[in-house]
Amino acid sequence: MMPIASSEMSANAPVTPKNILITGASGGIGTALAHLYATDKNTHLILLARNAAKLKTLAKRCEQLGATASFHVIDVTQRQHLQDLITDIDNQHPIDLIICNAGVTSHIGAQGEAENWDAICRVIDTNLYGVLASLNPLIRRMQTRQQGQIAIISSLGAYRGMPITPAYCASKAAVKAYGEALRGWLVNDNIQVNVICPGFVKSDMSDHFPGDKPLMISADKAARKIKRGLEKNKANLSFPFPLNLGMWFLMVLPAPLSDWFMRRFDYGGRR
Ligand SMILES: NC(=O)c1ccc[n+]([C@@H]2O[C@H](COP(=O)([O-])OP(=O)(O)OC[C@H]3O[C@@H](n4cnc5c(N)ncnc54)[C@H](OP(=O)(O)O)[C@@H]3O)[C@@H](O)[C@H]2O)c1
Repeated sequence: MMPIASSEMSANAPVTPKNILITGASGGIGTALAHLYATDKNTHLILLARNAAKLKTLAKRCEQLGATASFHVIDVTQRQHLQDLITDIDNQHPIDLIICNAGVTSHIGAQGEAENWDAICRVIDTNLYGVLASLNPLIRRMQTRQQGQIAIISSLGAYRGMPITPAYCASKAAVKAYGEALRGWLVNDNIQVNVICPGFVKSDMSDHFPGDKPLMISADKAARKIKRGLEKNKANLSFPFPLNLGMWFLMVLPAPLSDWFMRRFDYGGRR
């Protein structure tokens, strides 16, 4: 049984995507992905996030690198607005690849206090409903075109809930399951679906994570791994390998042992 490392390729490898939409493009991983895809001059990048200034700078940089780029200021928790926007974008530039990357986190307090309710709602609204709303208008369109690729950025935290970030891990487990379900559903429509589960990646998000961050990699390195994995149509792309293996052990170990390991890494709740 190797549940994490399963990353088989489907028969239909995706065509090189031309129109690529990235949510959360203003952040660490999203920006690194945009830079990477921008080096192909046939690419049109559609960059979404809330921070207009960062998006504008990023779009300009992507054009310098060779691609064409447009950006849209949007809060992915505005579900109807988001769906209308994605429909409009898809009318103008039929989306070949969407990377659902926008995300936020929250954590328990230093003395084990409960997560703030507003923060919990923000995490679920952004990380779960934001992904569902991004994909809802697109799936039928991709089915009609019989072509498309959907990448969902989950997390290694999807495999084993960390006591320090309960709502975040729940949201990432939910989108991981959603992506796995979509992959089976849409395979006959020639739509590739890929679930990405990174470990720690240097970004604003990880800067605010209160626990240990073993084997953290740069956003550029994460983006290179993600792009390579998408080109190979990996069902599941979990990295880095040692942490991925560690999460697998945590899943199969008896709960008291895996709880003990969690505490050793300062994820146990009370810090
Ligand atoms: N960093 C890690 O260690 C790590 C590990 C595993 C998985 N991930 C996942 O990777 C993804 C990218 O994270 P990151 O590390 O690059 O963090 P980041 O630098 O904090 O970037 C988060 C991105 O999400 C956008 N975003 C947040 N809330 C939004 C909203 N309501 N509407 C629209 N955009 C929103 C942010 O843009 P604005 O603020 O401009 O809206 C930003 O572009 C997330 O899904 C995260 O959960 C990260």
